[in-house]
Amino acid sequence: MEDREVELGLEQWGGEELLIRRDAPTGAWIGIAIHSTVRGPAVGGTRLRRYPSVHAALVDVLRLSAGMTVKNAVAGMPCGGGKAVIAVPGPLTDGEREALLERYAEMIDGLGGRFATGPDIGTGEADMDVIGRRTAHVFCRSLGQGGSGRASPWTAAGVQAGIRATLRHRTGSDDLAGRQVLIQGLGEVGGVLARLLHDAGARLLLADVDRERVRATVAALPGAVEVPAEAVIGTECDVFSPCAIGGVLNAETIPQLRCLIVAGAANNQLLEEADADHLRAAGILYAPDFVINSGGIVRGIGAERLGWGEAQIDARIQAIGETLEEIYRDSERLDISTAAAANRLAQEALTPVEVVSAPG
Ligand code: PHE
Repeated sequence: MEDREVELGLEQWGGEELLIRRDAPTGAWIGIAIHSTVRGPAVGGTRLRRYPSVHAALVDVLRLSAGMTVKNAVAGMPCGGGKAVIAVPGPLTDGEREALLERYAEMIDGLGGRFATGPDIGTGEADMDVIGRRTAHVFCRSLGQGGSGRASPWTAAGVQAGIRATLRHRTGSDDLAGRQVLIQGLGEVGGVLARLLHDAGARLLLADVDRERVRATVAALPGAVEVPAEAVIGTECDVFSPCAIGGVLNAETIPQLRCLIVAGAANNQLLEEADADHLRAAGILYAPDFVINSGGIVRGIGAERLGWGEAQIDARIQAIGETLEEIYRDSERLDISTAAAANRLAQEALTPVEVVSAPG
């Protein structure tokens, strides 16, 4: 998606605030998008990577920030949605990276709490620690620094619960034993998910643009098979689990999919909302990304802001399966796509309850 020249679409975005800055010392572009603070301060991760253009980075941050608003709303988090991207021109030395993150953290701090961040593609615990030197508005610092650590294992656990619920709805059984699961992207979340599904008896088909990473994962998980990154779309499986970048479900790929369900961790899997209708017409049950991938945010916010213990967090992560069930029932009852049903749930959570005053 990010290599197509699409309109920035600030008006369709419908968000509240966009901060864009060029970081002169590194040549990186920093974009912070606050989409909604209706439910509380905007929370969302920081994505750090190279982009084909600044424009592409901004399109990405706008879409990702809107996704965080609905994710946090459906997960019942007392916060809004936002996201940040740091579009780096190339590899940075450790020193350059730290200094860049400190300047970025000062931008966050200047927002006075309207935006708080956490990890996303290209950033992790150590980066959150660096950000934490300059602002308190950061999640998932290391345990040693007073944070809750990596959130990705919880994201993966939520995706697994979601895969089970989606399989159950589509096939009548949530048993993973012998199921063919194709995971696209073996990063922080996809890598942990592969291990969880392997332990549950799934037959794994693994793909990543980084060949070495696939080979290492395949070697560690007996029975797993490598699928070349360019062959993912069209490979037959029961479960297609996108865990890399966005836009993988589109007019070109959907007709080629040979799976029963799509259930993965990547954000913004649909290129356009209408793609959810195309999946439905193809008989593929789609687990809306912002519902199934909310485990990390539930863990980060639960542990660091809401005082939740592990049992409470685990219960909320298992509940992702129940939320998906509700969405699938709504989708059938209302004859709409699962994405539309999920958006309906989100809008309910975003609409302030009208206070009716007593007569007289
Ligand atoms: N990358 C996470 C997501 O997309 C964002 C996040 C995780 C933010 C954990 C805070 C804590 O949901």
